[in-house]
Amino acid sequence: MSGQAVPYLDLKPQYRSMETAINARIKTVLEHGQFILGPEVEECEKALAAFAGTKYCLTAASGTDALVMALMALGIGPGDEVITTSFSFFATAEVISLVGATPVFADIDPVTYNLDPLKAEAMITKKTKAIMPVSLYGQPADFAAFEKISKTHGIPVVEDAAQSFGAVYNYPAGLRCAGCNAAEGSKCSGCRSGALGVIGATSFFPAKPLGCYGDGGAVFTNDEALYKKMAIIRVHGQESRYHHVAIGINGRLDTLQCTILIEKLKRYGWEIERRQRVAGMYSEAFAGMGAKLVTPKVMSDRQSVWAQYTVLVQDRDAFAKALKEKGVPTSVHYPSPLHHQPVYRELRDRYNLPETEKASKSCISLPLYADMPDADIERVIKAVKEVLG
Ligand SMILES: Cc1ncc(COP(=O)(O)O)c(C=O)c1O
Repeated sequence: MSGQAVPYLDLKPQYRSMETAINARIKTVLEHGQFILGPEVEECEKALAAFAGTKYCLTAASGTDALVMALMALGIGPGDEVITTSFSFFATAEVISLVGATPVFADIDPVTYNLDPLKAEAMITKKTKAIMPVSLYGQPADFAAFEKISKTHGIPVVEDAAQSFGAVYNYPAGLRCAGCNAAEGSKCSGCRSGALGVIGATSFFPAKPLGCYGDGGAVFTNDEALYKKMAIIRVHGQESRYHHVAIGINGRLDTLQCTILIEKLKRYGWEIERRQRVAGMYSEAFAGMGAKLVTPKVMSDRQSVWAQYTVLVQDRDAFAKALKEKGVPTSVHYPSPLHHQPVYRELRDRYNLPETEKASKSCISLPLYADMPDADIERVIKAVKEVLG
């Protein structure tokens, strides 16, 4: 390898572009000293809700806590089942187990890598209390189909939007997202990820499309009762000072992180466009490579925020090694389906999920971030073409 490697993700240019504003925000918090639930928390939640298009948003200490708050607010617990995907980050299934319920895995759609609605519907039992699709890699799952299933079976849909906050889903005429904010009778289109289920939960982990400077997350809903429940759950089930009406968690996001998000959100629309541009350049350059390199597809009714640009290759280890030698790092999301994890060994043999297994064996992600220089994008393209011939 000659010269420096391309970074997989570099957040320094982003910080430099908003350094003055972020430093000033941090100083303000240090001076007013309201580190927990300071005024910027509500300011941040209002800005996030406006961006997502929901009535309510509550920030949370992490995406994991946001999902826990959502499941707890829906009253999901021991004896219940939640249908989800096995092709995701561990937290997706973990939160279901954490509240005492059982994750039930259905296979993915091999085109989008997201939970397949028909396969999810086939897993519904009397114990099913929610369906939780993940909008993986930044592309919303098929929420129109999930909304129909939700209505038919009376089961709420919770969106794990940890990787997809702000991505767009255009509903077909006559269908609206679970908590649609559009006026009754008007077409619901262009809803953003986070707003697509009865509750949406996202992550602000620094590497996420919208990240803070530590762990962070948020829940979104248009349902006032659920919002109120989650607000109580977020603070140890506390309804008023030292008056606890439920078992909750310490799920608050601190004020400093909220100030970072307020500033970063101002640039996020531009960043989404930049991410889409990098993905577009990759897809154009790699078109026609056939089975040697399968590029990701975004459905025509959706837009992705490209949390990852993930391709399928036949010999992943050799591909990663050869790219590394050319100074191009890669990452694998995710090498093992969740039902293959040791902690779920009892579930392992219960499932036959061929698409999940296929994707986990050959998926590999390339560098992509909003401030990625064109020279680095071109270097990645050149290296991939050289490696695959
Ligand atoms: C799909 C998915 N769900 C949940 C989470 C959990 O988010 P956090 O790391 O903020 O707890 C992540 C984080 O990587 C994720 O990718």
